Amino acid sequence: MTKPIRKAVFPVAGLGTRFLPATKAVPKELLPVVDRPLIQYAVDEAREAGIEQMIFVTGRGKGAIEDYFDIAYEAEATQRERGKDLSALDGTRLEPGNAVFIRQQEPLGLGHAIWCARTIVGDEPFAILLPDEFMKGARGNGCMKQMVDAYERVGGNLVCALEIPMEDTPNYGVIAPGARDGALTQVTGLVEKPALGTAPSNLIVPGRYILQPDVMHILETQEKGAGGEIQLTDAMAALIGRQPFHGVTFDGRRFDCGSKAGYIEANLALALERPDLKDHIRAFAQEELAR
Ligand code: UTP
Repeated sequence: MTKPIRKAVFPVAGLGTRFLPATKAVPKELLPVVDRPLIQYAVDEAREAGIEQMIFVTGRGKGAIEDYFDIAYEAEATQRERGKDLSALDGTRLEPGNAVFIRQQEPLGLGHAIWCARTIVGDEPFAILLPDEFMKGARGNGCMKQMVDAYERVGGNLVCALEIPMEDTPNYGVIAPGARDGALTQVTGLVEKPALGTAPSNLIVPGRYILQPDVMHILETQEKGAGGEIQLTDAMAALIGRQPFHGVTFDGRRFDCGSKAGYIEANLALALERPDLKDHIRAFAQEELAR
């Protein structure tokens, strides 16, 4: 019997330098894909997977995320008085106790950001979602839901696993794969940002994790790794061999919204699915490409 996954950590303390100047005053996580911020998609994905408590690891300049998940009292009261529809705000208000905000005082790396949430996570397995990785599940089944389903079968630790072109592996955490069984691949090793030509495979970890709380003890003394940052990948690697560790091949599409190209692709792909936008955007894109 596995312990249920009730908590998700959203590390949102990064500086978002690839989106400057847009991210000078607006957190990257609040950039919209069509009309919903990236962080909203990630929270919806966690909620769909049965997760109740959302833990945000924030930093200076990220206060707007806290306001975003609160009641927008003035706007809501005005809209209500005017008899306007408020359904666009559904899912944006997190219930008291289900939204926790912690500060990472310095951006020392993803591993350090996760460690900042250790007392809130406590002694139970938990999920991590990087909101700038936009994961669009196939057939309405989100990435984290697919991972929780797999976790209920095999327990232990799981990461989402995604195949990418070999030449892009130096930008990611890469899996050394073992035996494969359907969507599950045994993880025999993990390496962060391997030098070109040294990656153990082209299977990367695109920002979705289910981890046992033991990873927090490892992070406590984790040395700096690739890029001089405290890397989550290095701490996870230390769990391999001690606890079950699997990669889950995700059924759906992934957009790397931390990069400009991925962000624009996500906007286009979603707009082309929206009944209120698709005809207009398709016609515009066709005209634009023919110019
Ligand atoms: P990224 O590598 O995408 O960094 O971090 P970033 O700062 O957000 O963006 P760029 O590269 O400067 O444009 C991956 C995730 O880890 C979080 C980020 O917020 C993002 O969700 N992170 C990273 C932290 O919370 N703290 C850190 O110290 C580093």
